[in-house]
Amino acid sequence: MMTLVEENRPVQVVAADGMLRIGINRPEKKNAISRQMYSDLADALGRAEEDATVRVVFIHGTADCFTSGNDLADFVADPPTGEESPVFRFLTTISSMRKPLVAAVNGPAVGIGTTMLLHCDLVYAGDQARFQAPFVNLGLCPEAASTLLLPHLAGYQKAAEILLLGQSFDAAKGCEIGLVNAVFPGKTVFASALAQAQLLVRQPPGAVQLAKQMMKEGFADKVPEVMSEEGRQFVARLRSLEAGEAFTAFFEKRAPDFSAFS
Ligand code: COA
Repeated sequence: MMTLVEENRPVQVVAADGMLRIGINRPEKKNAISRQMYSDLADALGRAEEDATVRVVFIHGTADCFTSGNDLADFVADPPTGEESPVFRFLTTISSMRKPLVAAVNGPAVGIGTTMLLHCDLVYAGDQARFQAPFVNLGLCPEAASTLLLPHLAGYQKAAEILLLGQSFDAAKGCEIGLVNAVFPGKTVFASALAQAQLLVRQPPGAVQLAKQMMKEGFADKVPEVMSEEGRQFVARLRSLEAGEAFTAFFEKRAPDFSAFS
């Protein structure tokens, strides 16, 4: 039996069959995540941790877009200022979840749309998925402990290519670097990922959570430390002239010009 909660909001939360399904749903802005949406996402994750009927969290976007990442208009108008900001609350929550997270991704997964996957346990991609971490391209610095976790996952050079060049990559490369578990046709990725999540629901929950905790033990102290330093740098970089040029260029729908910067 499905319970539909807050159906028409940009963050949709559905509790059903031992799962909390969290949908990012703001298609007119390619599912860009606003401050309010970060708060809603963090609240939904917190609810999943507390609700004994929830064994697995399932995160997804819309059919042809996971998320275009942080709302760039928010970065200009109402940027995060410190660790109390909604984006950091979301990152702190997702990175410390005891319960497992399964993600279904199709279309663009930009910025935090890619880095949040480093905190998911199983990631399934549609064949149209495009991952990108363009923090440097925007004059910013990577977040979500990606400066620690991505080199660990992919190896330094592959991580450097992803984080320094910031170009998008496809689902096959996502599999190759270990970010993605499997690729499915775009039309079926949601159902296929959901079936995997259902397998996880049927596993003994205490053993699942213990295994997850033990696999993450080596990074348990380091992740908050790195995230905090990235956050500090990120907030400072938001005020940089390089970031100003990158944001202006995005909204003027032109390529940025960094030639004047030394
Ligand atoms: N923040 C705010 N608005 C965004 C956005 C974002 N991250 N991403 C897209 N939008 C808006 C666009 O401004 C556009 O709005 P408009 O119709 O009012 O002009 C609308 O969403 C559609 O975007 P568009 O760029 O036309 O779609 P696309 O299919 O050509 O490209 C993306 C999709 C995701 C590849 C592209 O929008 C993009 O690169 N977005 C920015 C991603 C980014 O840099 N995120 C931050 C990372 S830290």
